[in-house]
Amino acid sequence: MAAGRLLLIPDGPASLLYATELVNQLRRRGYSLQVAPTAYDGPSATAFVSELAWATLSGHPCRAIESLDEAAFREQDLILLGPVSPRVFSIFCQGKALSYLQAAGRPVLAILPQLFPDEPLPHKEGGSFAQLMPPGSRLLTGSVPHGLGALGNLLLPSFEEVLAQVDSLLAPQDYAGKKVLITAGPTAEDLDPVRFLTNRSTGKMGFALARDAALRGAQVLLVHGPVALPAPRLPRLTPLPVRSATQMHQAVMDHWQEQDLAILAAAVADFQPLHCAETKIKKGEAQELSLPLKRTPDILATLGALPHRPFLVGFAAESDDVEANAQLKLRKKHCDLICANDVRKPGCGFATDTNQVTILAPDAPPLHLPLKSKEEVAHSILSEILRRL
Ligand code: PMT
Repeated sequence: MAAGRLLLIPDGPASLLYATELVNQLRRRGYSLQVAPTAYDGPSATAFVSELAWATLSGHPCRAIESLDEAAFREQDLILLGPVSPRVFSIFCQGKALSYLQAAGRPVLAILPQLFPDEPLPHKEGGSFAQLMPPGSRLLTGSVPHGLGALGNLLLPSFEEVLAQVDSLLAPQDYAGKKVLITAGPTAEDLDPVRFLTNRSTGKMGFALARDAALRGAQVLLVHGPVALPAPRLPRLTPLPVRSATQMHQAVMDHWQEQDLAILAAAVADFQPLHCAETKIKKGEAQELSLPLKRTPDILATLGALPHRPFLVGFAAESDDVEANAQLKLRKKHCDLICANDVRKPGCGFATDTNQVTILAPDAPPLHLPLKSKEEVAHSILSEILRRL
């Protein structure tokens, strides 16, 4: 779960159809949220959503932006202006809000909508909104049309983009300067032009690791197999999609030398068809079919055998004798750590939103993490790695 206190300042009709959902999503992520809506005569935030509704949605009493003092800004971890309207711009130009905001010294994230792509926000003495904001403020412009009913469309950032920016502004930067390679998802081993061998991995666990590492300041290379889930879009995170175990092996071999850390969470096929047929295999009259298979390269073992490799973390997906089998893999593949997954336990392993892992090291007792969301598990694994890096 993310942590931090946010002050959201909404205005106008976007309050109703955008900012309210933003409040929901930020709270669901774990943030504590206060709303300071605009409350002037006209299409203000409180004209569209009452103070009581904002307080109910956010779980905190709400105070109109016009009545806030400096302490109200200072007690926050992040000020979120969303979306900024011409009216919010003039509130900051004319009232005391700007000096409070500047004196509080808190990071600011401003969501800038585009009503008409060519019409910028009004200027004050030739200064733009960006110039008005304290140095280091982040401005997020919109690219996704959000319908405001009879009021037309606004181009606004997706909620995913806003959450990613909030997360990265509030996350500890304890991985800053580190380079991390992560493998995720399944591999697909082609049998013919239409069929392939694969497994149940969705990429969720590996993506959660990549996301958390990037938010904490790492430069992340995410090598992933074919998955339905879109790869996280974050600064410092580069997705590198591949298909087969051989391609994943090649991608890792091309990039391992630049890395401080490699976490291999992919479910890589252990075998691939001996040959991939050029045309679709016909069933004919056959009642049975045997497929000759050959071993794929073991990426983790290959890295483990290198003399100057990055800090190496594997995963072990086990269905029986979980810890004993994971211990064997830890030693055989020469990892620094291995995360043992009991894939038969409810809520664990493949295609779940949660996971429970035990972190094994050659020189320490097992560390049993509780069942948590994959995001939280990723965060705990990365914190444990950092202790040892
Ligand atoms: O993607 P999700 O749906 O979120 O599911 C997450 C997960 C269950 C896939 C993940 O938590 C997990 O356990 N990943 C490892 C799955 C696996 O293939 O485990 P394994 O015990 O077969 O392999 C051991 C280790 O060797 C793994 O780090 C694996 O990436 C690596 N390996 C295996 C074979 C191979 N040819 N090359 C490898 O690098």
